[in-house]
Amino acid sequence: MAKFKVAWLPGDGVGVDVMNASRKILEAVHFDAEYVHGDIGWEFWCKEGNPLPERTHKVLKETDCALFGAITSKSKTDSEKELAPELKGKGLIYFSPIVTMRQTFDLYSCVRPCRAFPSNPLNYKEGIDITVYRENTEGLYAGVEFCPIPEEVRTAIEKNNKKMARFNKFPAEDVAMSTRIMTRQGCERIIRKAFEFARANKKPSVTLVEKPNVLRETGGLMLAVMKKVATEFPDISWSEGNIDAMCMWLLKNPDKYHVLVAENMFGDIISDLCAQLVGGLGFAYSGNIGDKYAIFEPTHGSAPKYTGQNKVNPLATILAAMMMVDWLGEKEMAKKIYAAVALVIKEGTARTYDMGGNTTTSGMADAVVNALRRV
Ligand code: IPM
Ligand code: MG
Repeated sequence: MAKFKVAWLPGDGVGVDVMNASRKILEAVHFDAEYVHGDIGWEFWCKEGNPLPERTHKVLKETDCALFGAITSKSKTDSEKELAPELKGKGLIYFSPIVTMRQTFDLYSCVRPCRAFPSNPLNYKEGIDITVYRENTEGLYAGVEFCPIPEEVRTAIEKNNKKMARFNKFPAEDVAMSTRIMTRQGCERIIRKAFEFARANKKPSVTLVEKPNVLRETGGLMLAVMKKVATEFPDISWSEGNIDAMCMWLLKNPDKYHVLVAENMFGDIISDLCAQLVGGLGFAYSGNIGDKYAIFEPTHGSAPKYTGQNKVNPLATILAAMMMVDWLGEKEMAKKIYAAVALVIKEGTARTYDMGGNTTTSGMADAVVNALRRV
């Protein structure tokens, strides 16, 4: 029997190519796993009205963790149009399966390391090393949304908050509402994880990315929790910055930041910015980590225009696989994969199109396999 059982979720578009590439690396390091395929993505939305079929939930429940490629997500109306004719008009609503999995399995930490690999031609600056801790289950992603807003909801809000009255002059179908729900527990666990990471990895500071001057309740709660948790970590300095200002400061002084912590949407935004500082989405990987289960994925999307072309950079997925074996406790294996990726980037002979070269997805994987023999 294999040591680990891994759910294998290629998803859509280039997800398939990048997952095949990372499998080569896992095999080259003799990672001892049984891989269990899970159906997920756009195809299953169109055919079955569910991009995350029940049978895939079962696969997740029966495995130690998952590696996930990419998925095509579209808006409510655009996704309805692509449903099989017999499923149309049934009130089915498309939800991003990755968001669903994060919530269903309570994978509350979205960990996104953004480290500049030495000599990556796409580095904004050498030496950048920022890790984003994004809250992954609450906030604007909670999915509590309305359009139109049911009358009883609207009246109840108006009774408790006078600012609601301003929207009464619009027809009900013209008013949409997405709520940002955050809990003290949710804020506390992600902030604590960020500080624990900083301590374990000798990072000097943690910075909260929020907007408490405008989002008084949710942002205010996050800031209050930050202040409290920070007292437990006197060895680590902390600061806070508003999301807008942080987009500017991160470009201006990227080396001043080490660990960023943010709620779901701000973490989503800031992690793309940090990814670009270290080469873009081709290098950006994440772990969606809970107390019992984790799903590792490249941060990029399914890039439909490159489907099946063996073109995109697989390093983000290879690094996600590296993070996965590390999480499973195979620390030496993880270090080897990281070193091999670093070597390929440094040597610069294999470069995918985003790096200005013409190495293919599988060619890049072969280059990493070759480098594994030299690290
Ligand atoms: C990410 C992505 C997802 C998100 C999308 C695909 C739903 O942008 O992982 O950052 O918004 O969380
Ligand atoms: Mg994103």
